Amino acid sequence: MEALVCRKVGDPTLSDETSPISVSASHLIPSLNSPTAVRVRVRATSLNYANYLQILGKYQEKPPHPFIPGSDYSGIVESVGPSVSMFKIGDTVCSVAALGSFAQYIVVDETELFRVPDGCDLVAAAALPVAFGTSHVALVHRAQLTSAQVLLVLGAAGGVGLAAVQIGKVCGATVIAVARGAGKVQILKSLGVDHVVDSSIENVTESVKNFLKAKKLKGVDVLYDPVGGKLTKETMKLLNWGAHILVIGFASGEVPVIPANIALVKNWTVHGLYWGSYRIHRPGVLEDSMKELLSWLARGLIEIHISHSYNLSEAHFAFSAIKDRKAIGKVMIAFDDHKTVRSKL
Ligand SMILES: NC(=O)c1ccc[n+]([C@@H]2O[C@H](COP(=O)([O-])OP(=O)(O)OC[C@H]3O[C@@H](n4cnc5c(N)ncnc54)[C@H](OP(=O)(O)O)[C@@H]3O)[C@@H](O)[C@H]2O)c1
Repeated sequence: MEALVCRKVGDPTLSDETSPISVSASHLIPSLNSPTAVRVRVRATSLNYANYLQILGKYQEKPPHPFIPGSDYSGIVESVGPSVSMFKIGDTVCSVAALGSFAQYIVVDETELFRVPDGCDLVAAAALPVAFGTSHVALVHRAQLTSAQVLLVLGAAGGVGLAAVQIGKVCGATVIAVARGAGKVQILKSLGVDHVVDSSIENVTESVKNFLKAKKLKGVDVLYDPVGGKLTKETMKLLNWGAHILVIGFASGEVPVIPANIALVKNWTVHGLYWGSYRIHRPGVLEDSMKELLSWLARGLIEIHISHSYNLSEAHFAFSAIKDRKAIGKVMIAFDDHKTVRSKL
């Protein structure tokens, strides 16, 4: 089978012989490794910022080399172990793996798979687990966002950001989004976001303050932050008494400092959120969250925006789209016929 193999730490956007990644055309197809194992023929797999960081050697989880990167994916059940009871050959499924989805086949235990409901696009389902899963657990389970609240999303046109704004709208909250550039702003407006700040031309805090004032709103109740750095520092000034700060990631490369004295005086709750760790500590939360998201996707309450789609041998382009902040929504690797993966942009 074809698989993308990472052989050393390095920059996956490189396409010359120094690249840490290469496609192996004759990788062994993984065998069923337990009676309840399922082999999935992967239809599509999505890129997440974490996949990029992991190859760079800058992610919290550092697997030994060589490894096949990749986390969330969708596909068709190709083979099942003798004790598999929940799935049969031909079922459409999606899931998230610790590693290994940048390959034509992946083997997992049946308990890790989710059935993709009829009417759901199979490629879209591959983009759902990490981006929407993280934002859903953060906003619905942790911050318990309500329709009476104001949500501010940073990095709002990225993978987790675009998911967060849509989940915010499903919850009925007033949603404010920060993103850089006209293309990103246009997509966010088309999703019904209440106020979009173009950080390439506007002062973020001033723009948000003007909006809040015009709408007679006091401030921000929930800050969804996958960016960190200066932007976090600035936007903390917009937070209400009792606000929730969702610490999601540091795409800016800078870990922000949240002053404990101000958190005390303003009664803020700071939520560190590592979605992947819920698989170990609260698997039931992840399962409920994924089921709800798949039902939202089937009912058209949320949409997956795919700005770039490639085949495996073009993976360096896919990583460049992430590195260069060009991605709007998701970047995908699709198998078989990636050119038929339609961009929603
Ligand atoms: N905690 C968790 O469980 C969890 C789960 C998933 C992701 N994450 C983290 O969340 C962050 C975003 O992930 P993602 O998959 O949404 O990534 P993404 O699609 O690349 O989006 C990141 C966004 O951050 C913004 N950004 C601001 N400064 C940046 C910089 N210096 N470099 C790159 N981007 C910058 C960009 O928006 P503009 O260009 O519009 O400013 C970009 O759209 C990452 O740090 C990732 O590790 C955490």
